[in-house]
Amino acid sequence: MAVVDGLPTTVRDPELPERVEIYEVGPRDGLQNESVVVPVAVKAEFLDRLADAGLRTIEATSFVHPRWVPQLADAADLLAVLDRRDGLDHPVLVPNERGLDRAIEAGCDHVAVFASATETFAERNLNRGLDGQFAMFEPVVRRAVDAGMRVRAYVSMVFGDPWEGSVDPAQAAAVGARLMEMGCSQLSLGDTIGVATPAHVGAVLDACAARGVGVGQVAVHFHDTYGQALANTLAALRRGVTTVDASAGGLGGCPYAGSATGNLATEDLVWMLDGLGIDHGVDLTRLVATSAWMAGQLGRPSPSRVVTALAQPADPSPAP
Ligand code: HMG
Ligand code: MG
Repeated sequence: MAVVDGLPTTVRDPELPERVEIYEVGPRDGLQNESVVVPVAVKAEFLDRLADAGLRTIEATSFVHPRWVPQLADAADLLAVLDRRDGLDHPVLVPNERGLDRAIEAGCDHVAVFASATETFAERNLNRGLDGQFAMFEPVVRRAVDAGMRVRAYVSMVFGDPWEGSVDPAQAAAVGARLMEMGCSQLSLGDTIGVATPAHVGAVLDACAARGVGVGQVAVHFHDTYGQALANTLAALRRGVTTVDASAGGLGGCPYAGSATGNLATEDLVWMLDGLGIDHGVDLTRLVATSAWMAGQLGRPSPSRVVTALAQPADPSPAP
């Protein structure tokens, strides 16, 4: 793999934050959607390499029903071999008390519940309606907070839903606010199918603020289906958001939303942050090398523009 020395020119914009926390979701959001099950040893190496590249918050896996997401059925095995060095945070998804029990048994101290802004996706992703999802999450959040764990809340389909169409920002904000009232400490706004555009991001942030959830508690989680993820991220940064979810190499999607494609690629985000002079702590060269290596493991090139520009991924179909 050859990485050329490419870095953008830095021009600082005083309107933007000085530092952004990157919340890496590749090992979870990325690998949950792969048609093949990636071996535990490869997942562990992926997580180690991401940490070596400077990422500090790396969502590791999900304690969901193994039949619903077989790609992550090895969650406990992965955590058993994971290098949990100091300063690293490895949140995991838990939908219900059974998932929380499994996460606690695996030694996790940071979990994430994941709600839907729409009835249809709640049913498809969680086998519950809108009200049923809150009933499922309430004891999870209460027990986790009582045990001193951090709890992140995701809301999916915030900007649009493939079955219900456009989603009212007030509806998405109401779902998020309810999770925050339960005791979650961060709200990640999920554009699961990548339909958001920048002013729409502002409208959703306004709706969240009107429900008492300010930008300091919000993270943004953009999938890049229509190529808007970076523009939407910049819009969120301009509004004061400082936590951005991204996926190394642009891996990602949701097995229960066919139109979801990969997340905002962490490399594309890092390139933009470097150009804007925003601190993030990630070594782009090491990250690109990691995503090029992972692309080789998965047998297909990374969709990230920056990975494509800076690396020559391993040939996905080597000659026999
Ligand atoms: P269910 O079938 O309704 O579960 O699934 P249940 O509560 O009726 O339980 C049925 C059986 O499953 C029981 O076993 C439970 O113990 C077992 P039995 O008594 O019959 O032997 N069970 C479990 N086993 C292991 N781990 C568990 C678990 N829970 C129940 N956690 C459930 C409900 C929520 C579990 C299921 O719908 C599920 O696992 N859904 C997860 C779907 C998922 O992971 N989707 C992708 C993540 S969301 C996403 O990607 C979006 C995001 O990135 C943001 C964005 O982009 O918008 C976060
Ligand atoms: Mg996602």
